[in-house]
Parts: sequence; C-alpha cells; structure tokens
Amino acid sequence: MSRMKVLCLVLLCILIAGNEAKVFERCELATVLKRGGLDGYRGYSLGNWVCMAYHESRYDSRAVGPPNWDGSRDYGIFQINSRWWCDNGQQPTANGCGKPCSAFTTDNISEDIVCAKRIVQDPQGMDAWVAWKKYCKGTDLSQWTHGCRI
Ligand SMILES: *[C@@H]1O[C@H](CO)[C@@H](O)[C@H](O)[C@H]1NC(C)=O
Repeated sequence: MSRMKVLCLVLLCILIAGNEAKVFERCELATVLKRGGLDGYRGYSLGNWVCMAYHESRYDSRAVGPPNWDGSRDYGIFQINSRWWCDNGQQPTANGCGKPCSAFTTDNISEDIVCAKRIVQDPQGMDAWVAWKKYCKGTDLSQWTHGCRI
C-alpha cells in the first residue's frame, strides 16, 4: 500500500473514533465530577454521583433515553429530563436549567454538572433520579471511587 493510502486509512479511523460517544471510565468521571464540585454537594458524597451516572447512562455523555410515558426524554450522563429541566424543542418544558437538551449530550459535561446541582436543590434531592433511588441510595458507595487517585 502507498503511504498516501495508509495515511488516509489512519485519518478515517480518527474520524470514526471522533464520532463515537464519549463513554467515561469510572475514575475519569469521578475526577471530573469532583473538580466540578459535586463531592459533598448538598450532602451527597462523590460515590452517589458516580453510582447515579452509571445507572442512568452507563457513563455515556451522549446518551439519549427512549421516550418516557409523558413523551419527554432524558439526556446525557445524568439523563436530564426534557419535561422539567431542558428544552428539546418537541414539547412544553419548564426548562429549569435554561438550556437546550443538546447542551447535555456533548463530551464536555460541565453544563450537566451545573444542571445537576440545580436539580438536587429541590426538596427531593437525589431522589429526582429514579435509578439513584433504586440502585444507589443507602448502599455502600465506596466501591464507586475505589482505587481512583482523586
Ligand atoms: C466546557 O464547557 C464550559 C462551559 O460551557 C467551558 O467553560 C469549558 O472551557 C469547556 N471545557 C473544555 C475542555 O472545552
């Protein structure tokens, strides 16, 4: 094969890889969430947030959930809901975080973190996340940050 062809294949691979969803590693995510100030936010230790993200999106920053019963959808690593927290342009929304839902499906999760902080300020706290309530609440959360250098 010519050098040019090899180079083209390499570029193609880079393009394909670049289009793939960013799926975080557990400790990578823990580090980003900690930097974002979520460790201990409203009394919820870092393990709560990592566990929630795992069960909501499997750490996939571009996850979009299937339609919910009310036609809303859930977006991004924290599966933020379009009925209450963001605008997907498809239905009425309270848009509590004041963002298009597309802001929560990028590899840069800093907007997701800002919105999660808003969500957790409501009286129900992290109960807002069904998967957290079901799989994380009241469990030993140390495993979620175990071995992470943070
Ligand atoms: C991520 O987004 C935030 C706000 O939208 C911005 O301030 C920050 O620089 C971005 N980070 C990277 C690595 O692009």
